[in-house]
Amino acid sequence: MADATTATLKINDSEYELPILRPTQGPNVLDIRKLYGQADVFTYDPGFTSTASCDSTITFIDGDKGELWYRGYPIEQLADQSHYLEVCYLLLYGNLPTAEQMDDFERRVTRHTMVHEQMHNFFRGFRRDAHPMATMVGVIGAMSAFYHDSTDINDPWQREVAAIRLIAKMPTIAAMAYKYSIGQPFVYPQNELDYASNFMHMCFSVPAEKYNVDPALARAMDRIFTLHADHEQNASTSTVRLAGSSGANPFACIAAGIACLWGPAHGGANQACLEMLREIGTVDRIPEFIARAKDKSDPFKLMGFGHRVYKNFDPRAKVMKESADEVLDLLGIHDNPTLQVAKELEKIALEDEYFIEKKLYPNVDFYSGIILEAMGFPTSMFTPIFALSRTVGWIAQWKEMIGDPQAKIGRPRQLYVGEDKRDYLDVAAR
Ligand code: ACO
Repeated sequence: MADATTATLKINDSEYELPILRPTQGPNVLDIRKLYGQADVFTYDPGFTSTASCDSTITFIDGDKGELWYRGYPIEQLADQSHYLEVCYLLLYGNLPTAEQMDDFERRVTRHTMVHEQMHNFFRGFRRDAHPMATMVGVIGAMSAFYHDSTDINDPWQREVAAIRLIAKMPTIAAMAYKYSIGQPFVYPQNELDYASNFMHMCFSVPAEKYNVDPALARAMDRIFTLHADHEQNASTSTVRLAGSSGANPFACIAAGIACLWGPAHGGANQACLEMLREIGTVDRIPEFIARAKDKSDPFKLMGFGHRVYKNFDPRAKVMKESADEVLDLLGIHDNPTLQVAKELEKIALEDEYFIEKKLYPNVDFYSGIILEAMGFPTSMFTPIFALSRTVGWIAQWKEMIGDPQAKIGRPRQLYVGEDKRDYLDVAAR
């Protein structure tokens, strides 16, 4: 197979040649695009566990080795040496910026941090107790109603403006969703602050008092953004691409991505994980929850464990764990019960045969929740922070798709297992 250029598929007496595509990294890919036309069969792959939906130059994951690269750069190096806005530039444009390019990009993002003043009224239409993710889905979708001049997907300049607007305004909108949910006034962005500090300032400052962002916490926040910035064709990114494949505008597409991210099997896991740790409550109850996680008749899963692609370890989790230790040290948090449960659960699960055999390791959400809680964010803000971070990945993938001459509307087929054709019966005859 390694040297072959085609694979042969035999169905009854007919043979079909399937081209083998070679990636720059990762396993070869069988090209089945012409299969239906030639052989009148579909392939069946619910959950897309064996299906590549596009080609992409943005992010590479080797799940067996536990590697994640953005544009070829390992995530550990970026988390350690770069910063989120530089990573945004890298994801969007393909290379690390020069000093001048970085200044220009930073200036463009910074100039777009405010939202249309009328959006404040739009927020006020939500119930006060709305989950910030519900607000985010609505408000980001509504951006297409506020920024008409960047919704023409066929105009490269408008696509660029939409990308910058989304990256710049997402922290403002996430912070507004939070402020609204706790009944505090919205805080305008402060453009002299860096991206992460600005977000923290908008979340935690109040007009009545001066609030200084701790640079070490801002650095940890920035690292959370970087680690979540992109993750190739995950569920929410595929949702953005699918929505975009119909020609929908970028704000509508990102709103679709946010909706998908919300689920507990994806971005909602960070909230679900922290809630699970609280529910466990004390270290002595861990065995009970481990037993439930192993019980096939119980739908309970250990949130923050397992990953579709990483079957060795999640490289983001490694960096996040270090960051969690630093933040907790900095804040002097050592005997927090949730943290004790987290540490003990991690230890037990890593030694347990069930988790070892199924290659279930703590994922990035396991540690990010611990950091965010220590910083003072309520659990309901965990997934909005993930959405904020992932926006650049979504938009980079969306731009790549729009620029791809081979892109088609996404339209999977199905294996129909329903009724055969039957005649309508009048109600009296049923
Ligand atoms: N706890 C207990 N058992 C688990 C867990 C878990 N967290 N995750 C997977 N398993 C078991 C499954 O029951 C399955 O067992 P089986 O082979 O006996 O049927 C086996 O491990 C394989 O798991 P799948 O569900 O088939 O793996 P899949 O790739 O479909 O799911 C997922 C991956 C969704 C992440 C899953 O592990 C999960 O639900 N984890 C908890 C939620 C979570 O933390 N999600 C965050 C993902 S990372 C992110 O979005 C940033």
